[in-house]
Amino acid sequence: MPSLSEARQRVEALRIEIRKHDHRYYVLDDPLITDQEYDSLIRELERLEGEFPELITPDSPTQRVGGAPIDEFRTVRHTTPLFSLSNAFEDGELRDFDRRVRQLSGSEVDYLVEPKIDGLSVVLTYENGEFVLGATRGDGIFGEDITENLRAVRLLPMRLSRSLPRFVVRGEAFMPKKAFARLNKERDERGEPPFANPRNAAAGSLRQKDPKVTASRTLGVFCYQVLEYEGAEVKTQQNVLDMLKELGFSVQEESKHCQNIEEVIAYCHQWIEKRHTLNYDIDGMVVKVNSLQLHNILGRTAKSPRWAIAFKFPAEQVVTRLREIFVRVGRTGVLTPTAILDPVQVAGVMVSRATLHNEDMIRQKDVRVGDYVVIQRAGDVIPEVVRVLQERRTGEEEVFQMPERCPVCGSKVLHQEDEVAVRCTGIACPAQLKELILHFVSREAMNVDGVGPALVTQLVDREFIKDYADIFFLNREDLLGLERMGEKSTDNILTAIEKSKERGLAPLLFSLGIRHVGIRAAEILAERFGSLEALAEASSEELTAIPEIGPKIAQSIVTFFQQEQTRLVLDKLKKAGVKMEQEMSAREEVLPLADRVFVLTGSLPNMTRKEATDLIKKYGGKVSSSVSRKTDYLLAGSEPGKKFERAQELEIPIIEEHDFLQMVPDGDSHPALSG
Ligand code: IVH
Repeated sequence: MPSLSEARQRVEALRIEIRKHDHRYYVLDDPLITDQEYDSLIRELERLEGEFPELITPDSPTQRVGGAPIDEFRTVRHTTPLFSLSNAFEDGELRDFDRRVRQLSGSEVDYLVEPKIDGLSVVLTYENGEFVLGATRGDGIFGEDITENLRAVRLLPMRLSRSLPRFVVRGEAFMPKKAFARLNKERDERGEPPFANPRNAAAGSLRQKDPKVTASRTLGVFCYQVLEYEGAEVKTQQNVLDMLKELGFSVQEESKHCQNIEEVIAYCHQWIEKRHTLNYDIDGMVVKVNSLQLHNILGRTAKSPRWAIAFKFPAEQVVTRLREIFVRVGRTGVLTPTAILDPVQVAGVMVSRATLHNEDMIRQKDVRVGDYVVIQRAGDVIPEVVRVLQERRTGEEEVFQMPERCPVCGSKVLHQEDEVAVRCTGIACPAQLKELILHFVSREAMNVDGVGPALVTQLVDREFIKDYADIFFLNREDLLGLERMGEKSTDNILTAIEKSKERGLAPLLFSLGIRHVGIRAAEILAERFGSLEALAEASSEELTAIPEIGPKIAQSIVTFFQQEQTRLVLDKLKKAGVKMEQEMSAREEVLPLADRVFVLTGSLPNMTRKEATDLIKKYGGKVSSSVSRKTDYLLAGSEPGKKFERAQELEIPIIEEHDFLQMVPDGDSHPALSG
């Protein structure tokens, strides 16, 4: 074991070394060592600090994982409101900005131009040199306290190089592009949905309730604005950046001091070209008046300062040839047409596919196979087809037809009139399997406790489960062989699976994942049909005759039960002993007029309309003002109106007060009958 002083020397050297590598990795995107070598430096430091706890300092790179998970983020009020920037999209707007600035300040003005990091704005507070509070921007007045999560951000100093009584700084948290790509790859392997872009990934990581999750993500912060600090030496934005650097913050290295607006414009244009060479996303350049004294003079409008403006980059577009349209089936069953392209470089990335969103979009833009198309990447990872170059058509291009069967499992696809999405109706469709199972076991559905995404991923990947009914045929050995499955958790899950067989018809119906059938519709259907078999036989007309079941739900149910896959899976559920009937006792608990629709006409002999209406509602029925196919009964009194004829036309039962009172409990003794 080294002596204390030897250990101290080594610990300090290691910390300097680690910080240097953090800087190379995050800021310069030019790591000198591999991830493994970096990890071994951290481990050596951890080991020494373990042997000599007196050497641990709060700012050590090892001390970055914060406290225990929390339920909710605390709201914090920012001591200085956080403004945002107005935008310029064209050079002319930058010149207008410059003109206004010069007019208001009465002099020539020089600028500092910084890349605009596409991340998440954070505010960091230090007291006596220690990091004490980190918050999101929120609405600019109130943010969320994410201190513990920010401790995990490597580029953020936990202690300033000089102890200032109070120092508040603003910066931008981001996820480096490479870390983002790695994270999405891992998420994909675990069956989790990917983040759309590094900004969302950074925001998602910092809003984690468990700081350990944040610590497992690679995040950086660049600081650019001092919100609270009094010091005569800082006179310009350039000085601000220098001071921040000296205090230990990471600042964007690509800032440039420009003497006039033409230099600013030239620098902004350079970055339109170079933006993709950085390891983090930037979506523009921020142009700031350099003199801080001028900031005070220029002041601000309601939302943004007059001393700064954001120059936003145009979305990058390129032309390529569309070779094929491939249909992908997403995890929720939506069929998404994807363009297969001749590979091109766009926004710094080689692209060979782009999303066409849906069939309507293809029609609208008239995209055909063989077309030359303009594609763009705007923030998100997946580029999109913007438009077709009609002038380059040869006449050989082919119009695309959406398939009528799912390209993954062959089930029929459903295109509902008022929806753009086309969906696969297969319940054993491999593309949707994980989602379907997770829904099947969820609390309101079959409520199989202990089966979460990690377990489902393993079960599906190892092909233990090919549809949700297979859950009931899992055996102890299958489960015990999986990662993180001990004897106890296995037994608990098997018990939960067994118990779920008795859930009853409504939860079962809900669990099947029939589109548009939520828990409420499932309850109504269970009540009406009493068994899964009866529902499977129901026609669209029978279904739409039920109040609350519209044509959309009806169509979805009918299509569902028509599928071959459905029949096979339901047979399996039956074999497994899953209860598929409604308990009679449960049915009786339902109010006697539940969901029956009444229409009233004429005057009743012994009751007012109000009394009749109240009674209908009391027992679960509904009163409608006009007769339609959805009407269950016409309650008619003397001198009935047009409704009477209409009900006759539609063959709707016409009842009198007397019949009506027979339908409700204690109707025999209702005062209306005693008269
Ligand atoms: S200065 C009051 N500088 O862009 C001016 N902002 O709307 C404060 N951003 O919310 C902003 N990089 O989150 C500034 N170098 C930079 C920036 C930057 C990114 C973000 C910031 C702000 C948004 C502009």
